[in-house]
Amino acid sequence: MRRDPNEHPNPNSSPALFSESRTMSMPARSAPPPAPLQAQPDIPPAQGHIKKIPLTALRPGMYICDFNAGWMSHPFLFNRLHVRSELEIAEIAAHGIDAVFIDTQRGIDVADAPTRAAVAAATRDEMLDSVSLHATPQPPGPTDPAPGTAGQATSAEEIRRARQVINQAAERLRQVMEDARLGKSIDIPALQDSVQQISAAVIRNSSAMTLVCRLRKRDAYTFDHSLNVGVLLARFSHYLGHDLNQTHAIALGGLLHDIGKMTVATEILQKPGKLTEDEYAHMKTHVDRGVALVSPYGLPEASLQVIAEHHERFDGSGYPAAHPGPHISEAGRMAALVDVYDAISTDRVYHRGLPAPEAMGRIFEWQRHFDPGLVNQFVRCLGIYPIGSLVRLKSERLAVVVQHHPDTLVRPRVRVIFHAQRRSHLPPEEIDLSAPYWQERESIVGHEDPAAWDIDICRHLAV
Ligand SMILES: [Fe+2]
Repeated sequence: MRRDPNEHPNPNSSPALFSESRTMSMPARSAPPPAPLQAQPDIPPAQGHIKKIPLTALRPGMYICDFNAGWMSHPFLFNRLHVRSELEIAEIAAHGIDAVFIDTQRGIDVADAPTRAAVAAATRDEMLDSVSLHATPQPPGPTDPAPGTAGQATSAEEIRRARQVINQAAERLRQVMEDARLGKSIDIPALQDSVQQISAAVIRNSSAMTLVCRLRKRDAYTFDHSLNVGVLLARFSHYLGHDLNQTHAIALGGLLHDIGKMTVATEILQKPGKLTEDEYAHMKTHVDRGVALVSPYGLPEASLQVIAEHHERFDGSGYPAAHPGPHISEAGRMAALVDVYDAISTDRVYHRGLPAPEAMGRIFEWQRHFDPGLVNQFVRCLGIYPIGSLVRLKSERLAVVVQHHPDTLVRPRVRVIFHAQRRSHLPPEEIDLSAPYWQERESIVGHEDPAAWDIDICRHLAV
């Protein structure tokens, strides 16, 4: 498969893949990372010329700007491709991809295909219907005030505490990964301690944890993905009403879910090109490698299930066992969707993640691969506009979501920061869209890409 020569500025550098990413590279602590280059969005900010088409409509001469396939493992290197031949289309189809997004400014158009914005709006409506029809309402959770809200306990202090928990967990996880790579014994008790702190912090204030976790500065050589999966699983498990032991076990599994990659050959893990079939098969062994690696440590069953089953799919299309839904544990089913959600919504080198609302839409759209009931619960847990999302209001103002209400998914609490028409910053103002006053006057009309507006969410939330 030939790549567009313009789509990657440095073919010798660390690549970005889909959910089965080779992101677990583990440089020695002393090795400086390469100079960070500008991540490229998989889909450019302008949306009108981005259209979604079924694979059956794909023709040579079209330009794929998003394979719409973040859930699956496959050897393609980039999320963009100028299609040259029917052979390439057959290869894409062979990996189970049934629809793609095309950039009609860079390739042949399909006149009647829906635009990206239309797809996002339709998915949002479907999500709302599905969640309200099928999801079981959860009991009221712990007090979870918005960060920075005057008179409430969150604000800078909660952000600081959350950051402390996350940073310590990141350092411990980094050490565990390094030890695993070197074949040394790994410090599970240290991770278990971090898991308890993460869990307590999520219960105390999940908004602060989410903001810190999602918005902190990243580089390609830390283990943000595993950390995020651990934190998200703690939050999801708590939301589902699991007891603390189960929550801790599932979160620990999240931190360790890809530890098997530490023993995958470095030349495959960091290969800057498309993997061969053999290399790809070798990459998939990271699941069994992970299970074997932690087997001496007597981990709780749910931790092992997360490690062993995070690539299983509800329709039986996953690996290594290819078990269908009923044969996958709940912890494994939770891990599968959390793993993919974080992978597609996280920035990496050369790859800008989807905005969180769009990533949530993709999870919903791909739910045949996931437990549909859990997908609905996950949407309720994080919201259709997850915390930290940039949204456009009816008044043409842009705002950041700072707290979501599980029962009013499209009316979170937001911080207004920018006027889209005037293209100017506004004095920050927090409004609760679920309050009766604002229900009559304001609403969210869609989400926005912060990069397209040159808006630094972290700066506005002091994360
Ligand atoms: Fe994995």
